[in-house]
Amino acid sequence: MLGSKVVETLSAINGYRVIATGRSEVSFANVEYLRGDLTENEFIYRLCSYATYDVVIHCAAEVNLKKAEDEPQHSKKIHVEATERLAKRLNGAMFIYISTDSVFDGITGGYTESDQVKPLNEYARTKMEGERIVERFAPLHYILRTNIYGFQFPPKESLVEWAYKQLKNGQLIKGFTNVYFNPLYTKQLAELIWLFIEHAPAPGIYHAGSDESLSKYAFLLKVIRVLEFDATLMLPAEADYTGVVLKRPYNTFLNTSKLKQSLFMADTSIDSGIRSLAKDIKTNNL
Ligand SMILES: NC(=O)c1ccc[n+]([C@@H]2O[C@H](COP(=O)([O-])OP(=O)(O)OC[C@H]3O[C@@H](n4cnc5c(N)ncnc54)[C@H](OP(=O)(O)O)[C@@H]3O)[C@@H](O)[C@H]2O)c1
Repeated sequence: MLGSKVVETLSAINGYRVIATGRSEVSFANVEYLRGDLTENEFIYRLCSYATYDVVIHCAAEVNLKKAEDEPQHSKKIHVEATERLAKRLNGAMFIYISTDSVFDGITGGYTESDQVKPLNEYARTKMEGERIVERFAPLHYILRTNIYGFQFPPKESLVEWAYKQLKNGQLIKGFTNVYFNPLYTKQLAELIWLFIEHAPAPGIYHAGSDESLSKYAFLLKVIRVLEFDATLMLPAEADYTGVVLKRPYNTFLNTSKLKQSLFMADTSIDSGIRSLAKDIKTNNL
């Protein structure tokens, strides 16, 4: 979801040569694509020897929380070991590691970069370990903790894609009123990554979220209004993560003051992100 927006955004910029990777068989206009598995040594070797990289943008992850929880070795391989190999081999490059707001336990919300992390599940724990690896092995690094929404074709199971499929079929959805976040549209994050590359602020961790904290219900309501769906198709509901094996945080609102001070020109408005999403959906006839 994010990777393809990053490729689309950066390959449109004059003077950028973009080399993308993934396991799927895909192609992008004007972009070299190396197909392979980042958990395999030989592929990392091939990728690293293919070119001299000025910037590495590490978006690859196992975002299926259930799979990440059930297969901890798999999570470790992609989030920790692959990150370590890339960071060690490409340590002369600017290394941008996409992390997650779920490194926090979500009890208070409003987290700054120096707040204590306390991941609740295997996905978040291994993403946090990936952060430590990047800090250790990549001197010029940006660790962007974020939450994102986006759309790809065919739609997968992310929040907006799931809601869109349901609503389009006239089916009811539930929106959680007690789970808070401040997500960015993938295009906003891709443009933000571009700003990091161009402006190179001080290396470190940055919280990359939208300006507003809102519940998933409030967020989906905005999406529903902009996409002109029937708002009565969404019912308010309360998430209950107590007693479940796969723990999730309730409030991962990220304080973005550091980001705004460093890159004040970044578009992190929730409303403009949703409008941009709607425009992309319309343009691509999704
Ligand atoms: N989605 C969210 O809500 C969310 C929230 C917070 C943070 N994040 C972070 O944002 C980043 C992007 O997430 P996303 O939502 O765009 O996820 P996504 O759509 O699942 O994309 C992840 C990509 O990683 C690639 N990948 C996974 N395992 C790989 C492997 N072993 N070798 C090579 N490529 C591999 C996959 O490409 P192929 O399928 O082609 O292999 C896939 O395109 C991740 O780092 C994630 O942790 C996401």
